[in-house]
Amino acid sequence: MEIEVSSSMHLMYVSEIQQEMYDSAQRRGTGIAKRSLEYLSKKISEGNSVVASENGVWVGFCYIETWSHGRFVANSGLIVSPDFRHSGTATKIKQKVFELSRSKYPNAKIFGLTTGLAVMKINSDLGYKPVIYSELTQDEEFWNGCKNCVNYDILMSKERKNCLCTAMLFVPPNNNINGTANTQSEIKYK
Ligand SMILES: CC(C)(COP(=O)(O)OP(=O)(O)OC[C@H]1O[C@@H](n2cnc3c(N)ncnc32)[C@H](O)[C@@H]1OP(=O)(O)O)[C@@H](O)C(=O)NCCC(=O)NCCS
Repeated sequence: MEIEVSSSMHLMYVSEIQQEMYDSAQRRGTGIAKRSLEYLSKKISEGNSVVASENGVWVGFCYIETWSHGRFVANSGLIVSPDFRHSGTATKIKQKVFELSRSKYPNAKIFGLTTGLAVMKINSDLGYKPVIYSELTQDEEFWNGCKNCVNYDILMSKERKNCLCTAMLFVPPNNNINGTANTQSEIKYK
């Protein structure tokens, strides 16, 4: 299996990726930030995503988004084709997109919101810690992505302080959180 930083040669998978993102969200009954084919295509052709494939068959995907003028990065839209799940593919994709995020945005905090145990496990291994939502980007555009979620009313009733998703944050070395220097080692990452 190949797990690569994307380029225009991966554009042939974009429709399948978008469809699987939609189908998985429907099956799980949770929201996912809906992204147009144009948006995903741009991520792919500009090298802001990671694509897994095997012999020309699409296997998995994840993309990078930046918020708060590059102070925060999210690794979003993680999806593995159902035929390829439970064999460590998501773990490898997240590792690769994490490395890509760290090299492109070395000073940015990396975060994610999830209800999924698999993603929580993967993020913890990469050095993310659970946090409250106020530690995340306050960029309006990011939170607008929650509007498609079935739980959006809950988020708003809690004044955006919490919801059903667990927030997880990786703080790079030398960055400060609540005035305390980050002591997370990048053990697994290195
Ligand atoms: C979530 C998803 C990406 C996991 O992909 P995967 O390739 O099967 O994951 P991995 O094989 O790398 O598993 C990673 C870890 O999560 C665990 N795991 C995988 N799927 C799981 C599930 N459905 N429930 C609980 N744990 C799960 C694995 O056992 C593994 O744990 P381990 O390291 O302790 O062995 C995949 O199921 C998927 O595409 N789901 C639909 C989209 C989605 O939910 N995306 C996440 C949005 S935040």
